Amino acid sequence: MNEMTKIIQERHSSRGQFDPTRPVPKDKRNVILEAARWTPTAHNMQNYEIIIIDDKEVIETIGNIKSMTSEAFIRENFEQLSMSEEELRKKKTGILGNQFPPKWRDASKLDEAIKERTTSPLSGTIRGGQTILLVIYDKRKRAPASEGDVLGFISLGCLMENMWLVAQELGISMHIMSAFSGEEIQKELKNILGIPDYMEIGFACKLGYPIAETKTVRVRREIESFTHHNKYGINADDSPAPPARLLSPKLPSCV
Ligand SMILES: Cc1cc2nc3c(=O)[nH]c(=O)nc-3n(C[C@H](O)[C@H](O)[C@H](O)COP(=O)(O)O)c2cc1C
Repeated sequence: MNEMTKIIQERHSSRGQFDPTRPVPKDKRNVILEAARWTPTAHNMQNYEIIIIDDKEVIETIGNIKSMTSEAFIRENFEQLSMSEEELRKKKTGILGNQFPPKWRDASKLDEAIKERTTSPLSGTIRGGQTILLVIYDKRKRAPASEGDVLGFISLGCLMENMWLVAQELGISMHIMSAFSGEEIQKELKNILGIPDYMEIGFACKLGYPIAETKTVRVRREIESFTHHNKYGINADDSPAPPARLLSPKLPSCV
């Protein structure tokens, strides 16, 4: 398998506790930022700024921000859950339910779960992370003629993936923390970090070294299930076989 494909397949979400005594060395962090620098973006707008947060006190202050999971998240999250590894392997999309509270995994108890919501601190998401990269963008701008700046958001996705792949190559774990872009949390983060109001938080990721790598089943659809041959709905069965390096059975199914 070619080296790039191996890195793509091995890149994964690290949701466990990070080792607070092992910060990401500056030279490695800079390699990740170099990957960020070369991100393809719509019109080469380079529509991002990155705030590097590695000051313990700042991380602690951010960790104290409290927020409540939205009703929409609990309801829509449920749609993506598999209740067993077997179900997930069969479905090939979504995530395992066991990382969420029992009531979030039971259709008949979602209303109750929503009523019983309480606030929790962001430290529960940061979980020992000592280096956080906060990606922000100027919400007053958009990629030319891009309705809703869809192309701008795709560009932020490219940025995320560039950094994630290089982190993987360097043996550094990464975890995306979407909660950081929630409306209420944004307000507090902008205060703490002095971010001007016209800048919006795109996403945050933490980088580091997990104390123990948690085993998680990782699934992907087969190529045939998302490709169409010359016309939508026509199965790609009769297309030439994809190059061996792109076949999925080698996907590490557990990390
Ligand atoms: C835009 C985006 C937002 C994500 N937000 C979160 C998040 O808030 N929390 C989380 O645990 N994982 C988050 N993830 C990670 C995905 O859940 C993960 O990539 C997916 O389940 C596939 O697993 P893998 O990364 O191990 O291959 C996010 C991924 C992307 C691309």
